[in-house]
Order: sequence, then structure tokens, then C-alpha cells
Amino acid sequence: MGNGFSLDQCRAVITGASSGLGAEFARQLAPRAKVLVLVARRAEALETVKKELSGTRTQVLCCVSDLAMEAGRSEVSAFLTANGVKPNLLINNAGMGDYGSFASSTAEKTRAQIEVNITALTMLTHELLPQMERPGGIVNVSSLASTLPMPELAVYAASKAYVTSFSEALAIELAPQGITVSCVCPGPTPTNFSQTAKRGSGGDTNRDGQGLLRIPPSQVVREALIALQRGRACVFPGMGVAIAGRVFRLMPRGLMRWVLKRRAGKE
Ligand SMILES: NC(=O)c1ccc[n+]([C@@H]2O[C@H](COP(=O)([O-])OP(=O)(O)OC[C@H]3O[C@@H](n4cnc5c(N)ncnc54)[C@H](OP(=O)(O)O)[C@@H]3O)[C@@H](O)[C@H]2O)c1
Repeated sequence: MGNGFSLDQCRAVITGASSGLGAEFARQLAPRAKVLVLVARRAEALETVKKELSGTRTQVLCCVSDLAMEAGRSEVSAFLTANGVKPNLLINNAGMGDYGSFASSTAEKTRAQIEVNITALTMLTHELLPQMERPGGIVNVSSLASTLPMPELAVYAASKAYVTSFSEALAIELAPQGITVSCVCPGPTPTNFSQTAKRGSGGDTNRDGQGLLRIPPSQVVREALIALQRGRACVFPGMGVAIAGRVFRLMPRGLMRWVLKRRAGKE
């Protein structure tokens, strides 16, 4: 799609860098980056990631911001200006889910998913694009869930369908401007995600068949960065997820709903 983006001496903004995939993006970029701006709400967790990277030459800056709020999103761009950082790589990774039925969800968690997974990703990209140096790169973290309508994870899966569609369109629009856009669609990956997605009652999602798809965060990030460097618009990391992603994308929707209904035990 794009020409591919070289990570050497990149100046990257990574959202959701306080844990999981975001922290792993920081670890893998650190040996090659010039500047890394780590964005998330938890200051202490960001500082821990920063400390971990202190052995590298990269300048690491922590930007504490709540991306679910418009004020928090504006803080990111103000932070970059205040610190004289002109980014050429944006990694839109922050995200969250909510396990359970839509009807029983709280308005607060539902709104937060939309704000972080969709609005923050879109508006941060919109705000940073004009100041991004060319050649540039954008990695949007979507999910294998973007290919499925998922009962008990409905808003999350729909939000990721948005991320994949938006990213693939942007990849086409921005390629002539020297910006490579890659969308990564991980399957189940061991991070804090499940902990955050669980509700107070502790209900988990249906994990049937997930074991075959699970790969470590390091592999997800490695494959995402390879896709960016090669100019690939969309990647499903891991063999199992790559096959599942292809099958789900080709499956007739009626058949898919039938399978999902049976899996949810509603038939
Ligand atoms: N793990 C999986 O199975 C899986 C599968 C497919 C896709 N993904 C996607 O991968 C991405 C990273 O998630 P993860 O698995 O690494 O989970 P994680 O360990 O829970 O990390 C989520 C990150 O997002 C940040 N975040 C959440 N809400 C935020 C807010 N309001 N403002 C700023 N930052 C916020 C968190 O930081 P703070 O709490 O410090 O704010 C944290 O750094 C997400 O987009 C997720 O949807 C995960």
C-alpha cells in the first residue's frame, strides 16, 4: 500500500504505553527510535516503562493523559509542542473492552470504549497529521474481533470494525503523501486487557478455541512493525489468527451469525 516506513531515528507517539502491547511497542522501538512519547493515564506505570528503557539512547517522555476526554486528547498535542517533538510515527494502541451483554452494560464503560477505541484514535490522528513529518507512519491497533459481530463484546467488536475500515481507507488516502498506515488485528494476547474488560461481577468472555490463537505480545508487535516497514495495510499476527481472519472475512454473514448464536448457547 504505502512504500513502507523506516523505524531508524523515528520520533514516535505511542498511546496506551503503560502496559501490554503499548509497552511492548516502546520496548521494540527503543533501540532504533530517537524520541518516544508514551501516553496513558497511569503516571507510575508509564515511569516504570520509561525506567526499563533507560539503557537505550532514545529520549523517552511520558505524557499523562486521559484519552477518553477531549481535554486529555488536546493535552497530547500541547505536550508535543511544549517539548519540541515533531513526530513521524503515531501508534494508536490505547483501547479497552467490556465483557457482557450490551443491555446490562453501564453507560460509563460503553461511552469510554467508544471514546478511547474510536474517537481518540480518529481525532488524535486528525490533530497530529498536519504536524507529522514525511515520510511518516501510523499503526492502528484493531483486533481479530473487528471481523466478527461478537455477542457479549458487541460495542468492542464494532469499535474495532471501525478501526480496521478507517485504517484501510486512510492507507489509500495517505500513501501519496508519504505516510504509511498499517492496521494490526491481534487475536487473544496475554495483557491487562481481560482484567480491564471484566465487570465487577467477574464474568469473563467465552474463550472456546482461543488457546490455538494466543501468541505473546512480543510477536504481535514484531509482526505489526514488519507490516509497517513493508507498507502492508493490514496484518493478523500469528498463523492461527491469520487463517481465522481470512476465514471470518470470507464467511457469509448469515452463516457467521448462526455459528455465533450456537457458540453463545442461544439456540
Ligand atoms: N490483549 C488482547 O487480547 C487484544 C486483542 C486484540 C486487540 N487488542 C487491542 O490492543 C490494544 C492494547 O491493549 P492491551 O491488550 O495491551 O491491553 P492493556 O494491557 O489493558 O493496555 C491498554 C492500554 O490502553 C491504555 N488506556 C486505556 N484507556 C485509556 C484512556 N482513557 N486514556 C489513555 N490510555 C488509556 C491503558 O493505560 P492506562 O490504564 O494507564 O490509561 C493501557 O496502557 C487495545 O487497543 C486492544 O483493544 C488487544
